[in-house]
Amino acid sequence: MSDLLKIADLDLNGKRVLIREDYNVPLRNGVIEDDTRIRASLPTLQSILDSGAKIILLSHLGRPEEGQFDEAFSLAPVAKKLSELLGRDVPLIRDWTEGVDLETNDIVLCENVRFQKGEKDNDDELARQMANLCQVYVNDAFATAHRAQASTHGVAKYVPIACAGPLLIAELKALSAIIRKPEKPLLAIVGGSKISTKLTILESLLDRVDQMIVGGGIANTFLKAEGHAIGKSLCEDTLVDDAKKLITKAKQKGAEIPLPTDVSCAKSFSENSTATIKPLDAIEDDDLILDIGPETADHFVDMISKARTIVWNGPLGVFESEQFSLGTRKVAEAIARSDAYTVAGGGDTLSAIAKFDVADSISYISTGGGAFLEFLEGKKLPAVQILEESARAWALMERAREY
Ligand code: 3PG
Repeated sequence: MSDLLKIADLDLNGKRVLIREDYNVPLRNGVIEDDTRIRASLPTLQSILDSGAKIILLSHLGRPEEGQFDEAFSLAPVAKKLSELLGRDVPLIRDWTEGVDLETNDIVLCENVRFQKGEKDNDDELARQMANLCQVYVNDAFATAHRAQASTHGVAKYVPIACAGPLLIAELKALSAIIRKPEKPLLAIVGGSKISTKLTILESLLDRVDQMIVGGGIANTFLKAEGHAIGKSLCEDTLVDDAKKLITKAKQKGAEIPLPTDVSCAKSFSENSTATIKPLDAIEDDDLILDIGPETADHFVDMISKARTIVWNGPLGVFESEQFSLGTRKVAEAIARSDAYTVAGGGDTLSAIAKFDVADSISYISTGGGAFLEFLEGKKLPAVQILEESARAWALMERAREY
């Protein structure tokens, strides 16, 4: 990370700065439901504006079809929010690939990069057009750093200077602390509905952690692997063998993956379905497991209180419904009480943190979902790799200039 060029290393006065942000925020009927990612970008924007630079913002929103405008994926609500939060007009520029006029505004937002053909394929021509917009490119979009796309990767090859924004650096630092030298015991809590989306993270985390709590649909697949009846609960049958292998791997290295001893279930799931607490051996064929039970929650809370480093991704149950929120709430509150180094990330996890109002008590909350998981898996993030290459090239040029 020390080999990344930072904005503090540069004189930005009078420069046109292109910043890749991640404003991929949840929208409902055009209204932003969670503006965490927008707020997280504000200090960087403000400091760059204060240094006398002009800003062109790039971001994606959702996964629209490339090559055409689609109102549903427009960044218009983001431009409006940014204008409110910054207290200055941030116009949205619909056509920006041929150039952006910064005469009347110090900061503009370009319409969704994923409307441009070639963004996802990291097209060179599009990357060059982006590079032509600026003198300095800043990537502050940690949450998209696992994507090698024109605005996160290609553009950095063609700009005079490519550097990492403060948010990107802060994310890398906070997460590196878990990978490099975590204080032990290190506890990972991985929940969510599907083991398939998290199989590789479960595997690689097992190499590092002392204990791992699995929750949600993932825990059901583990329960099945251990031979427990789970009724008609969400489970990925094709991955039961993988779950068995993970359990064996954990045992071999002396790590613990405790499974629920009691659960909260219902006969069907709806907003009003009644939760029934059952011991694990009382699950009936028509039961749906929707949360952990209080005994299991207490056990997990105890484990959390003894850990010195905790990484959390994914809820323990269907926490959006009050009657199935106990497990996720107890875990969130226990993490908040803990004086361990605690890191959380992922979309659902952020919603749970907001719902249980524990954000202030968690050491670091990552803005990333996929990027957070891939980084913890030990994968190199392409957007970071290209910034490292640019920084090396810049250092060589600086040395040549001094010489
Ligand atoms: C995210 O929300 O995880 C990032 O914005 C990346 O979005 P993507 O998975 O559509 O690339």
